[in-house]
Amino acid sequence: MDVNVDEPLQPELVKLLALGCAHLQRDYHGVNARLYDAVQGGLRDVEYYLRTIPSAPAMVLELGSGTGRIAIPLAEAGHIVYALDSSPDMHRGLRDKVPSRLSNRVVPVEADMRDFVLEARFDYVILGLNTVFALLAEGSRRDCFRSVSRHLKPKGRFVLDFMLPSASLKSNREGSYELSMHQEGPGRGYVILTFSRYEEERRLSVLNFLTLEMVDNRISGAFVTPAAEYYPTVNEIRLLIESAGMEVVEILGGYEGQPFSETGDGGDVIMVARLRPR
Ligand SMILES: C[S@@+](CC[C@H](N)C(=O)[O-])C[C@H]1O[C@@H](n2cnc3c(N)ncnc32)[C@H](O)[C@@H]1O
Repeated sequence: MDVNVDEPLQPELVKLLALGCAHLQRDYHGVNARLYDAVQGGLRDVEYYLRTIPSAPAMVLELGSGTGRIAIPLAEAGHIVYALDSSPDMHRGLRDKVPSRLSNRVVPVEADMRDFVLEARFDYVILGLNTVFALLAEGSRRDCFRSVSRHLKPKGRFVLDFMLPSASLKSNREGSYELSMHQEGPGRGYVILTFSRYEEERRLSVLNFLTLEMVDNRISGAFVTPAAEYYPTVNEIRLLIESAGMEVVEILGGYEGQPFSETGDGGDVIMVARLRPR
């Protein structure tokens, strides 16, 4: 995983770690995997995937599948879904959620999306909900897209969706803190203090999280997580798709099929590609 260990942590968080008041925790591991479902909101993208992938059982590979937010509803719709993720803790969350009646339709794969080799070939490969942001280095994005093209069936489709940086994200050059609370169940939840800063030249959002895990309304653990997200441009993704032997067949500006416009302020982009005909 491209974990951005080079980005400095905020001094306040370094101090908490030095004092032993908080533990260092990688993104999508440990507490960050436990809280993932509590902080995720919405299924708009899932509805798009359910509409886009026709009803016959399709072979689907989801890269960075996490705890199965997209993979499980697709399996429920009758598809065979390979759920590939490099985090064992996210896989644990997935296994806990997959109902036994779907266990033969969800195939967990613990692997790195930058370089994977599977026997199966797929009608759809999905890189959903900003998961491309985790590929911080250009080489990682290139390797990932090459692996995708090696696993598509001749008529298969590669679908990826991500957000463009909004004006407010881009203006956050100095950095700012934001506090949020997420309830998971009675007496159980998370308080998250997020520091974020956007660097225009590197198209990088630098993130530091301080997470308080709450059990029975008491703090049961404090964790500091450094993270970063790379915001690609549509043109860059198109070039990477082409250099991996594919071509873009559709670009949408939203899950309801809105036309894509470069001039908007942020917003969703959905790109669909196929293998370039020989
Ligand atoms: C934003 S979450 C998306 C989870 C899920 N697709 C969803 O929409 O809810 C990104 C996921 O990508 C995984 N991930 C990040 N880098 C990865 C890599 N290099 N290889 C495989 N999985 C990776 C993380 O572990 C995490 O589960």
